[in-house]
This record gives sequence, C-alpha cells and structure tokens, in this order.
Amino acid sequence: MARKPIIAGNWKMNMTKVEATALIEELKPLVVGAKCEVAICVPYTDIETAAALCKGTNIKVGAENVAWAEKGAFTGEISADMLLEAGAEYVIIGHSERRQYFGETNESVNKRLKTALAKGLKPIVCVGETLDQREKNRTKSVIRKQLVEGLADLTAEDVAKVVIAYEPVWAIGTGKTATSEQAEETIKFCRNVLAKIADRKTANKVRIQYGGSMNPKNVKELMAQKDIDGGLIGGASLKAVDFSQVVNYQD
Ligand code: 13P
Repeated sequence: MARKPIIAGNWKMNMTKVEATALIEELKPLVVGAKCEVAICVPYTDIETAAALCKGTNIKVGAENVAWAEKGAFTGEISADMLLEAGAEYVIIGHSERRQYFGETNESVNKRLKTALAKGLKPIVCVGETLDQREKNRTKSVIRKQLVEGLADLTAEDVAKVVIAYEPVWAIGTGKTATSEQAEETIKFCRNVLAKIADRKTANKVRIQYGGSMNPKNVKELMAQKDIDGGLIGGASLKAVDFSQVVNYQD
C-alpha cells in the first residue's frame, strides 16, 4: 500500500494573527492542486484563524505541542480538547527545540503522544541526533531510544497513525541539509525500529518525514528516496511561494 506523502510547515514562534492571515491567503491558491497532504503547524494563537481560513481547502492545521494532562493545574500548557476546539487536526510532539530548551524527554513525549492519540489528534513525533552524537557514531542508538521510549506501550494500530519526523538537529535552521543518502539511511533505520516496536506491516504504513533545511531546491532529491514520505519545513514554510514549491515538488 502506497504511503501518501505529507508536507507540513512548522511555523515555530513566528506569525502574528495578521501575518498568519496574509500568509495563508497567499498560500491557498498556490497549493490547491497538491498531490501530497499539506499541513501547517502554527502557534496556538493562530490555530483558530488558520482553521477558519483553511476550511474547505486542502490545507490542514496543526499545533506545535500538546499537554499530556486532560486539564487542571498545568500553567502554560494547552490541552488536546482546547486544540481540537480551536480547529487543530495535527500536533507536533518532541521537536528538538522542545527537547533542547524546554526539558522535553522521551518520557514526556510518550505521555503527550498517548494523550494526542486518545483524543484523536494526529501526531507528528520528532526524532533526530545532534552533531556531537553523529560525530561520535551514536546516531542509530539515539534514534532507536527516542523511538522505543517515545512510542512505548502503543498498539500497532496506534503506531500506524503516527507520523515520524526525522530531523537531524545539525540540519535545522543551519542551511545544512542531510544528503539524500544520509536522510534515507536514517529514515530506513527508523522504519526498521518501528518494525521491531510493532511489526513490519505496520512499519510499512508509517509515514516518515525528513526535516532540516528542506527547501524548493533540495526537496525533489529527498522525496525521490524510497523511505522518505514527506517533509517538516521550518524556515521555508514562512514564505508562501517557497512552501508551495516544496509542496508541489512533483510538478
Ligand atoms: P528548518 O527548515 O528551518 O531547518 O527547520 C526544520 C524544522 O525544525 C522543522 O520542524
């Protein structure tokens, strides 16, 4: 069964509501015939606006994190119900910036992931090694641990619902892209780990994105790799033309 590619923007902490509106209005006509699934993961305060503007279009809206708790005394967190009510369909979990600056761990990723799945949000779980880890030949062990611990206790049915984003930390926002061979090798490795966590049939259903300085110039070569099923796009998702060129890589 063929996996439908998914290109998702991660706006990070960018775009006020006014800026978001302008970007989405410009983007809509540019991606209208896209052959892949298209999503934008946006700051919480933009979700409702984005969902209203994208209603009836082929652009899906997502959030950039979700609390593991249902509700209560968790200052600064946001619940799955709140995200769903605002119109989010997807949610990014465990982005390397959350791991690096906000103490996100494989365990907290696992808790957030279980809640997202239980609530019907579609999770995009990020994994990836730092430059130091790659240079010390630890890429595979780091990623195996992120996947095994991050996806712990999930049924095969739930594993199949998860989108994985492989984002080498050294390639994020640096302009340094992993070569298509490096990206394919690690993404294929991710799929093999998923086969051990669940089973081969399930692993073959999971969409695995590449992320890290993906742009209109390198998207075609990356997407030509057998195991790469899409991209998680930071910088290039903040410009409608650039993002649309990534989305329309098949044209
Ligand atoms: P850049 O595309 O800006 O490198 O960011 C990638 C990323 O972190 C997407 O989640």
